[in-house]
Amino acid sequence: MNTFPIDVQGLTHRYATHLAVNNISFKVPSGAIFGLLGPNGAGKSTTVKILTTLLPATAGDAFVAGYNVRRNPTEVRQNIGYVPQMLCADGDLTGYENLLLSAKLYGLEGAQRKDLMDEVLEFMGLIDVQHDLVNSYSGGMIRRLEIAQSIVHQPHVLFLDEPTVGLDPAARQMLWQHLETWRKKQNTTILLTTHDMDEADALCDVVAFMKRGSIVAIDEPKKLKEAISKAASLDDAFMHYTDYGDYAHAKQARRRSIT
Ligand SMILES: Nc1ncnc2c1ncn2[C@@H]1O[C@H](COP(=O)(O)OP(=O)(O)OP(=O)(O)O)[C@@H](O)[C@H]1O
Ligand SMILES: [Mg+2]
Repeated sequence: MNTFPIDVQGLTHRYATHLAVNNISFKVPSGAIFGLLGPNGAGKSTTVKILTTLLPATAGDAFVAGYNVRRNPTEVRQNIGYVPQMLCADGDLTGYENLLLSAKLYGLEGAQRKDLMDEVLEFMGLIDVQHDLVNSYSGGMIRRLEIAQSIVHQPHVLFLDEPTVGLDPAARQMLWQHLETWRKKQNTTILLTTHDMDEADALCDVVAFMKRGSIVAIDEPKKLKEAISKAASLDDAFMHYTDYGDYAHAKQARRRSIT
């Protein structure tokens, strides 16, 4: 088992002329939850796409589960699960059928496939609805199904891009209860993006704030908060490290000058 299943070294990505990820580096220890936080457009999803081998890096290196994303993309894919930012389960299929597609895609077969599918359906609380069409699921159920699809092959590393967006507090809590039980059993390393600072604070061992492609702060949530003030929340830390106050102020000033 790698000491650092995610190891990012000077990663950079440019979309044509736009520098979306600018020379970022960080390491995630085995079994940890790492939160990549920052304003819209900061470069979080681009980073996740490079680490899941969906986008090439313009410069720098990254190792996932011990494999180089550039040189060994197949091995990386065999060892990871990925839940993209956008909902992607097929509504015209049942939950079971969606899961079966993923299980086949990951090369699972026979009795092992059936056992792993049953196990993950149980863990994600989907046994009773597995034969219903996904069109009839709530947002929270769809997200639990998508997570089931991403972990059915028991990956070492899991990438979750805004897994709880649009979920009500109860659905969010339920999703994390299921996922935590799973993570502890499998010792899965997780990289997560979220705009919910309470969620990041409660779950993440370490968080990094990104701003315009760069990492501007990285530490345990507790330390990032304490660095600002005794009573600071992670929301406050977000505003502080990403200069969001300045941005909101500039936007207000612009609005004032227009009206
Ligand atoms: N396919 C693309 N082509 C060109 N520019 C892109 C593309 N995808 C993203 N970008 C730009 O790259 C920057 C980073 O985008 P990215 O999606 O990584 O941000 P993000 O931090 O995930 O934001 P959000 O919180 O809104 O999901 C943004 O300025 C975005 O407009
Ligand atoms: Mg994103």
